[in-house]
Amino acid sequence: MERIDATAAWELLRRCKQQRDGVAPGTLELEGEPVLRISADGAWESFAPVDEAAREQLDLYLPLALQPRYTIAQLGQSLDGHIATNSGHSRYVTGPEDIRHLHRLRALVDAVIVGPGTVAADDPRLTVREVPGEQPVRVVLDPAGRLDGGYQVFSDGAAPTLMLRGEGLGCGPAGVEVLTLPAPGRAFTPADVKALLAERGLRRVLVEGGGVTVSRFLEEGALDRLHVTVAPLVIGSGRPGLSLPPIRTMDEAMRPVCRNFRLGNDVLFDFTLSSVFGAGR
Ligand SMILES: NC(=O)c1ccc[n+]([C@@H]2O[C@H](COP(=O)([O-])OP(=O)(O)OC[C@H]3O[C@@H](n4cnc5c(N)ncnc54)[C@H](OP(=O)(O)O)[C@@H]3O)[C@@H](O)[C@H]2O)c1
Repeated sequence: MERIDATAAWELLRRCKQQRDGVAPGTLELEGEPVLRISADGAWESFAPVDEAAREQLDLYLPLALQPRYTIAQLGQSLDGHIATNSGHSRYVTGPEDIRHLHRLRALVDAVIVGPGTVAADDPRLTVREVPGEQPVRVVLDPAGRLDGGYQVFSDGAAPTLMLRGEGLGCGPAGVEVLTLPAPGRAFTPADVKALLAERGLRRVLVEGGGVTVSRFLEEGALDRLHVTVAPLVIGSGRPGLSLPPIRTMDEAMRPVCRNFRLGNDVLFDFTLSSVFGAGR
């Protein structure tokens, strides 16, 4: 390969994802040609010149694409930490580059999880449309059984969908594949959700929102990585992004290993939370 451009870089990342058992450190080939030399933490060197856009993609996504098992969450928030208005309107907090980034994340995982508040507010499709890629399984959490079947994700047939409902709530909407889990306090235990998905071979997981769901996964130590994109706008009030139990002093604040990426006018904070990616918590 004479040069790695953005298209070739994305193709490489997709090939990595297709390796169910992950990609071992060493030489990565495309069409039988050596293209990259990679190490376990996602650091890479190229055998050919690399365009800037390709370099950014490889830096950002290779650590994910190499792994056979991880849970990542994402939120796009305003400067003042909100992900939607009080009424639940959130299209869009962040810019088009972050939306494309979200579609890349969807393409790199086996399953995308959302909470019931997100389905009720956004009626999202949760499909990969902005970049070439395979559709992940869509997983809707509904611990209290509040959602009916009248949302796109249950009826558009664009990708498989699973609904997870609390036990003892009846069978759920017709035509939707429903699985049940214990939901103490009207919430699932993130480890139970991950174990259920892993049993089905869904081991690379994106928790796409909303704030309540992502916060619960973070609080329970169920995330390996967290992407928070901050947009230069102020909503002033609204649905919060991350919200955790109070701490007393700044010594108790989480300060995970972090990388920054520019996405148009927005800034992505890429936090490493577990040793899956070679950094301690
Ligand atoms: N900017 C982003 O990155 C991003 C990403 C995803 C979503 N969002 C926005 O985030 C908001 C949703 O986030 P969230 O933290 O509120 O919820 P969530 O994490 O999606 O879901 C969890 C909560 O949904 C609640 N819920 C609220 N209204 C509901 C309804 N009408 N039907 C069913 N369940 C409902 C549940 O409450 P109970 O315990 O009472 O059942 C539960 O606490 C939406 O406005 C969405 O647009 C933004």
